[in-house]
Amino acid sequence: MEKEIMNDVKKYQKLEKLKKIRDEVQPIPWYFDGLESLCDRIHPEKQLLQVTDIEELSKDTKLFRFISAKANKPLAPFRAGQYIGLIVEIDGVRTSRPFSLVSSPNLYAYYELGVKRKENGFVSNYLLDRLKVGDIIEATEPLGELYYNQIFHGKNLVFIAGGSGITPFISMLRNITEHNLKLNVWLLFGCLSEEDILFKKELDDIQSRRPNVKIQYILSEPRADWNGARGFITKDKILDEINTVKDKFFYIVGNRAMYSFIQEQLNELNVPKFRTIFELYGVPDDVTEVIGWPKNITALDSVKVFVDFIQQGKKIHETIEVSCTEPLLNSLEREKSLRLIINNGCRSGACALCRTKLISGTIFMLPEVKMREIDQEFGFIHPCVSYPLTDIHIDLSLA
Ligand SMILES: Cc1cc2nc3c(=O)[nH]c(=O)nc-3n(C[C@H](O)[C@H](O)[C@H](O)COP(=O)(O)OP(=O)(O)OC[C@H]3O[C@@H](n4cnc5c(N)ncnc54)[C@H](O)[C@@H]3O)c2cc1C
Ligand code: FES
Repeated sequence: MEKEIMNDVKKYQKLEKLKKIRDEVQPIPWYFDGLESLCDRIHPEKQLLQVTDIEELSKDTKLFRFISAKANKPLAPFRAGQYIGLIVEIDGVRTSRPFSLVSSPNLYAYYELGVKRKENGFVSNYLLDRLKVGDIIEATEPLGELYYNQIFHGKNLVFIAGGSGITPFISMLRNITEHNLKLNVWLLFGCLSEEDILFKKELDDIQSRRPNVKIQYILSEPRADWNGARGFITKDKILDEINTVKDKFFYIVGNRAMYSFIQEQLNELNVPKFRTIFELYGVPDDVTEVIGWPKNITALDSVKVFVDFIQQGKKIHETIEVSCTEPLLNSLEREKSLRLIINNGCRSGACALCRTKLISGTIFMLPEVKMREIDQEFGFIHPCVSYPLTDIHIDLSLA
């Protein structure tokens, strides 16, 4: 009994703390402080965030809540579904990873991110094990094209999420319910087991209060007593839920394996590509298994990269040795002595922020990446999804 009361007191204190943060931060009065300030507010080059809370969402996922670390700099607004890049320096290596914003875009006071541990992952393990309440961390502005577009997407939306791929959909659902948007939403959420269903309580609550939101959890490794759907998100399961693909718009978020599988299912249902939008979480675990990878090149192979870049106004030429199976951007960042800073956002080939001039040599680019024609014509690559197959020469000063 005493324990229960203490828990309630703690919950109350937490809610009070959140309420105080919300009440203190108001949307900036854009119309009072001019266009330049508006642009800077929407597209700040970088933001400084301070961790205010860390909560456990599952055994391998935590929720991080951040406020702006600068009193006179409110957080940049975002569209539900977008992500920010968290920029970290870990043991001398400066890098970043994108994370979808979980919080509602209607809250100006804080951002929330749900970070899942990746086995041997460089940044996710750092965030989960070393980031503490009070720490300050750099971040990009909100980025990404995965958000609701009322002109093109219509009124019937199908969200397909795998594991931590649920995060942008939580923000989108929060926005839909807060604004009472007249949209029909079907969420198909694939997880391993019941324990892996992130935000289940909130999702169940939304479903029970909103007849326009239908949610199906599909577990690939459920316990024997699970009485929901089992297996993978197949075309039959999709049709069971949504009845027909006609007039529906599909959003897919998850890892590469899940995406390829869902894309096949949607092809079989004759869903046109222009009725889908997707976000892939990170590079493949093993690029040598990707279709088109040259079979004679293995994880043991390395090549030389000749890098040109500008430092203190002078053009520098350096040579480094890198693995063929690591994304070039990671290898360049890992070369601590060069202290290269390469602009990046999505690290999955979508945003083009990392575009880099390839002077010579051959790279393998992940097949699903769509380069702009102009970039291809002039020999630009996206190092976040490029793997060097031969010695290569790149010039970072020509981006
Ligand atoms: C738009 C977007 C939104 C995202 N949102 C979320 C989110 O909301 N929540 C979430 O948990 N995740 C999210 N992710 C994934 C997240 O950005 C990271 O990819 C994830 O946390 C793993 O990062 P890591 O640094 O721990 O792993 P990494 O260290 O980057 O490892 C990932 C893979 O990189 C390869 N790799 C790395 N180093 C090497 C090397 N030395 N040699 C060979 N291969 C190597 C391996 O294949 C490895 O499996 C999102 C990704 C994108 C693109
Ligand atoms: S960081 Fe977005 S394409 Fe490379």
